[in-house]
Amino acid sequence: MDYSIESLSVDKLQTQCLIVGIYTHQSLTPAALEVDRNTHQLISNLLERGDIKGKNSEVLLVNVVPDSQIERLLIVGLGDADKISPKLYRKALAAAVKTLKTTSIQSVACTLAEMEVPDCDWQWKVRQIVEIFEAELYQFSETKSIKPPAIALQTTQIIVPETLKKQAAQGLAHGVAIAQAVALTKKLADLPGNICTPSYLATQAVSIAETAENLSVEILEESDMQRLKMGALLSVSRGSREPAKLICLNYKGGAENAKPIVLIGKGLTFDAGGISLKPSAGMDEMKYDMCGGAAVISVLQAAAQLKLPLNIVGLVPSSENLPDGNANKPGDIVTSMSGKTIEILNTDAEGRLLLCDTLTYAERFSPDVVIDLATLTGACVIALGRVASGLLGNDEELCRALLAAGETACDGAWQLPLWEEYQEQLKSNFADLANVGGKEAGSVTAACFLARFAEEYRWAHLDIAGTAWRTGLRKGATGRPVALIMQYLLNRINA
Ligand code: BES
Ligand code: MN
Ligand code: ZN
Repeated sequence: MDYSIESLSVDKLQTQCLIVGIYTHQSLTPAALEVDRNTHQLISNLLERGDIKGKNSEVLLVNVVPDSQIERLLIVGLGDADKISPKLYRKALAAAVKTLKTTSIQSVACTLAEMEVPDCDWQWKVRQIVEIFEAELYQFSETKSIKPPAIALQTTQIIVPETLKKQAAQGLAHGVAIAQAVALTKKLADLPGNICTPSYLATQAVSIAETAENLSVEILEESDMQRLKMGALLSVSRGSREPAKLICLNYKGGAENAKPIVLIGKGLTFDAGGISLKPSAGMDEMKYDMCGGAAVISVLQAAAQLKLPLNIVGLVPSSENLPDGNANKPGDIVTSMSGKTIEILNTDAEGRLLLCDTLTYAERFSPDVVIDLATLTGACVIALGRVASGLLGNDEELCRALLAAGETACDGAWQLPLWEEYQEQLKSNFADLANVGGKEAGSVTAACFLARFAEEYRWAHLDIAGTAWRTGLRKGATGRPVALIMQYLLNRINA
């Protein structure tokens, strides 16, 4: 969809549909007031009749607006004026676009950015319009022979006051890049494991780098990993016929000597568990075990698109985890790139085996910080459900920055304790450490394992096992935590 910023007053607007907000208790937003005045109190009359009350996310589409250049009016309930929050603002936007996509309306003008949202500026509000609209318009139909009917909506004019156009344009640019990154993450994630293989992910990264400025890519093959002695990573892909890939994207938008932000994304294109095979119920969802990797590729695309003045490296170790005569067996001991030996007590704890060698590899970039994104533990879904991503790290300032970014982007994370005491659980009788720490505090011990390979720099880990996709009837990728990471990067620029 196309978006533009306009500063026309409502009476001058010509549109197929104008979106205006109303609060409860018959309180109208400025745009709704103006429409009301110009239409012989159309909105007041509808309120009087009780056709809409203004509850958050309530919508009323008025298909005829007499004596007006506005063909239709979409009235959106915002809730109590004094209770508006960023999340309620987003909910109202989602309700509006959900209604629009069921109609034949091709172009709309949206005035909702004028509502006061505590602590949110116009840049944020405009950005959210684009992010929410695009999220709601996303449809995955790559693998359907009968495609769903196309959505009619083509253009959205975002109405802002003349003096705020610059801020709004910035929000629009950010919103478009972030929304496209979210959509790419979702698309890669929703593709099945027989299409989205490690090689497929690598090809995608290559084609993104080809079209973007200042973005280069290198794909490390298994032979390269052999040379680098990535014994942990390679052990996972031994059980698969698809060769593992280590995708390395390098974006140089910052000063020549500025240390890069390194993002690492777990890229398991299918995780059957290996010899420690998972139960079959819901196993299809393990195609989503590459969501962290997809998010990293997408964030690098967005960073290049926005020409962010930062240096960013994206590393995506990608493999399948399948049972096979060659696969890891419980009890096997492998030597990681760091030299540390690992006793693989459960072959299903494979993510950390890929990540540990990638964390060691990251040292060569002299990173400012390293952030990994991984669908790492089922335990995280038990601890935090599907609302917050889990956050652990060895640097409080970095963790706080990520928590704050998540809050701003409405893509929240919650910190868990990465305390020394938990390291106890990873002791092995036969190797330097075990790859699992028992059933207690599974997300913490997984992060404790990673921490042993991240001692050379400031590092944080986001466990997105519960947030990267939805399960059940609305099964599908969410694109999280792209918005959180993008907000972190934007905050880094302004800091
Ligand atoms: N990819 C899974 C984690 C996962 C499971 C994410 C379910 C989302 C939903 C990971 O590779 C895994 O299998 N982890 C094991 C670790 C255990 C063996 C210590 C798990 O969580 O069961
Ligand atoms: Mn697993
Ligand atoms: Zn996994």
